[in-house]
Amino acid sequence: MRFGFSTAGESHGPAEVTLVHGVPAGMDLVSEDVNRDLSRRQQGYGRGGRQKIERDEVEFLGGLRHGKTLGSPLSMLIRNMDYANWEMRMTPEPVERGKHSEPVTLPRPGHADLAGMQKYAFDDLRNVLERSSARETTARVAAGGVAKKLLSEFGIEVRSAVYRIGEAACDKERAALDAAKADASDVRCPDPEVAERMKAEIDAARYARDALGGEFVVVAEGCPPGLGSYVDWRDKLDARLAAAIMSINAMKGVEFGLGFEVARRRSSEVQDEILLEDGRLVRASNRLGGLEGGMTNGEPVVVSAAMKPISTIAQALRTVDLSTGEPARAFRERADSCAVPAAAVIGESMVAVVLAEAFLEKFGGDNMTDIRSAHEAYLQRIQDTHRAAGNGG
Ligand SMILES: Cc1cc2nc3c(=O)[nH]c(=O)nc-3n(C[C@H](O)[C@H](O)[C@H](O)COP(=O)(O)O)c2cc1C
Repeated sequence: MRFGFSTAGESHGPAEVTLVHGVPAGMDLVSEDVNRDLSRRQQGYGRGGRQKIERDEVEFLGGLRHGKTLGSPLSMLIRNMDYANWEMRMTPEPVERGKHSEPVTLPRPGHADLAGMQKYAFDDLRNVLERSSARETTARVAAGGVAKKLLSEFGIEVRSAVYRIGEAACDKERAALDAAKADASDVRCPDPEVAERMKAEIDAARYARDALGGEFVVVAEGCPPGLGSYVDWRDKLDARLAAAIMSINAMKGVEFGLGFEVARRRSSEVQDEILLEDGRLVRASNRLGGLEGGMTNGEPVVVSAAMKPISTIAQALRTVDLSTGEPARAFRERADSCAVPAAAVIGESMVAVVLAEAFLEKFGGDNMTDIRSAHEAYLQRIQDTHRAAGNGG
């Protein structure tokens, strides 16, 4: 089966669950490979009270034996500590209607609440928000940890950095280059001066009972050329990466390399010229973010995204009470005032999952030994071709 994952779980339910399929047999994997990113996702200046309650840690339920993957579905569980406070309101068992929780009928603008109630014929928007909440991304980050582990076995590293929160911003290209330093900052911005301004922006928004969005960049270094394909639209890697990023809650735009800036420039200021240096084909620049024709081209893959501000804000927005039809103020639940640093970690995970899927399509997926041989043989063939070109064919 193709590499990929599904998730299950409600925000205040007992647990988040991830089922990763298509994981090759024989890969080393320990809890820490997943817990590291679960913890990074929980951090960030501007998070709400929920993160103080949770301590996300993975329990493997299947697909792993003695620290090695078996090739069977990898099943992971992350308990929601907050369930203890919500048990009667969220129990899977039948309860007497209205006894343990009042229906929530004040849909929040910017959320799945209203359309979700209409679509699924609910009269309690809790049935919508519990699943549409970004708590679900915890399960995605667990899948991302597995994908990252696989990629790292082949020298591919996926990182991220935040380069904008509200009006506080630094250069995206610089942030991408310095992404390794981002974890040292509580807004995940590698420029310390801009990081301070970002925190001031978050404080000001919070003081105004409001919230902020921002932009982040994800960089994957070490990808071989030829992941994805130009042959079929479904295989195009930029399209798949865009869909994966856009599937993250609150994402409103995605760019590759220079992004929309390419529309303003002339071609000679956009394309990445091909040079032969010491028998190696190299690029004079990486303005297209490592993707041409729906494939990786061997340069770092650079994907960035714009996140809208959190919709649940203290100055509750106008809505209609669906139980009375009267004008009202939107339902408020404990919320983040800025979650861009966490979203960047989720972005890493989604990029890693798509790259892992494309990597295994190219090199096979049964076991690590065969994948390693296929990967090495491919890199060798490419290198030999370049050398031949360098020697005049
Ligand atoms: C890491 C992360 C944390 C989020 N935290 C909140 C939150 O605390 N409150 C909230 O209203 N929205 C939060 N959101 C955004 C909502 O989940 C999102 O806006 C909502 O599900 C509607 O989806 P859409 O914005 O993609 O249309 C968060 C998003 C992410 C990625």
